[in-house]
Amino acid sequence: MPALVLLGAQWGDEGKGKATDLLGGSVDYVVRYQGGNNAGHTVVVGDQKYALHLLPSGILSPGCTPVIGNGVVVDPSVLLSELSGLNERGVDTSKLLISGNAHIITPYNVTVDKVTERFLGKRKIGTTGRGIGPTYADKINRVGIRVQDLYDESILTQKVEAALDVKNQILTKLYNRRAIAVGQVVEELLAYADKLAPYVADTVLVLNQALEEDKVVLFEGGQGTLLDIDHGTYPFVTSSNPTAGGACTGAGVGPTKISRVIGILKAYTTRVGAGPFPTELFDEDGDALRRIGGERGVTTGRDRRCGWFDAVIARYATRVNGLTDFFLTKLDVLTGWEQIPVCVAYEIDGKRVEELPYSQTDFHHAKPVYEMLPGWNEDISKAKTFADLPKNAQAYVKALEEMSGAPISAIGVGPGRDETIEINSFI
Ligand code: GDP
Ligand code: IMO
Ligand code: MG
Repeated sequence: MPALVLLGAQWGDEGKGKATDLLGGSVDYVVRYQGGNNAGHTVVVGDQKYALHLLPSGILSPGCTPVIGNGVVVDPSVLLSELSGLNERGVDTSKLLISGNAHIITPYNVTVDKVTERFLGKRKIGTTGRGIGPTYADKINRVGIRVQDLYDESILTQKVEAALDVKNQILTKLYNRRAIAVGQVVEELLAYADKLAPYVADTVLVLNQALEEDKVVLFEGGQGTLLDIDHGTYPFVTSSNPTAGGACTGAGVGPTKISRVIGILKAYTTRVGAGPFPTELFDEDGDALRRIGGERGVTTGRDRRCGWFDAVIARYATRVNGLTDFFLTKLDVLTGWEQIPVCVAYEIDGKRVEELPYSQTDFHHAKPVYEMLPGWNEDISKAKTFADLPKNAQAYVKALEEMSGAPISAIGVGPGRDETIEINSFI
């Protein structure tokens, strides 16, 4: 004790990187438990900005041990370039631990991701093209390559052969692509073995021992609740479990160890890629949120789709994650609107619906029912306490808290570490 989970309550990009970094100074371990380099977590420290894809945001806190758990999918080339990029900027990355059970994103997984999206045409998911889905598919199909396989050439060769057997048939016969040579893949993967060796560890043992010694462990989710393979807007989701349960399976820590689950919640909503989004705006308000909020993908550079806050989604996130707290981010972006619409329910086929419909068809037809909240014009970026916020901003936060079903324990008023109002302490 205590183990905390920090995860996205919407469709990703809620500000998890900033929140994790903020807590990084008070925790002993920060653990990524799912996803891979589809994530893009931004951390701003002073005048320095870092974009992290695979490394836990705790890597920027010197006292903290960053861990890549068994549930993560690792592209070794991306990992090594992220490490060297940080080293060049003077960040010590030597404490990093990587689970030997984490699966490797191979070059053919990246190829299959891109080819499949192209093949889907209009029905594509809008993936990040980083090989995430195909790597998790191989894991579930039991033809995946794990980090530990890099240390047994014969096993690695057999596994790559097994994985490519079917894939080469599909690539050549269905997609009209060239077959991928086993030897070439094995050679490329083996070249990473020595470079990764210092970091590979039995992370399940390390983390459980740390918890027994009363160390503080923070689990940092990638993506968000609505991108969860089980609880998200399937099929427009990622191929892993960013929701709280994923922290247990993706790090090998039992649910009884988790003491707090913090949902990172943007004061409005964004989404990247395809899929339903009831409060999406196609007008100048949407453009303004995108411009003021800097809503452009950290990983793919795509413009994010923007819309008003959706309390139905926030309530759903509270429920499926068992959230104990929210960290509300980007409240400053809403400064300047006379009135701010907040979606309190949906209208589906003429009926008012208070909770997220389980039917995908219904969700596609959901129209937001808005309540108008009064806005504010004062600059809030220097606010240090809740009382420093203008009355209408306070009322906006309180209304969101009431609708979302868990206390808002911190509020982001800017991208920097210091631009945060802490209401309840997390640790
Ligand atoms: P993540 O994927 O959840 O870590 O979020 P991203 O880094 O993809 O996107 C969040 C963006 O919002 C980043 O550019 C952050 O620097 C920025 N950000 C985080 N919190 C705040 C905040 O409270 N206010 C403002 N203005 N920007 C924030
Ligand atoms: P962070 O951690 C926002 C989206 C993609 C696509 C879908 C599936 O920065 O919040 P994938 O490549 O995972 O198979 O793509 O999921 N997606 C994200 N959207 N933030 C992310 O990460 C995302 N990671 C994946 O845009 O719609
Ligand atoms: Mg992001």
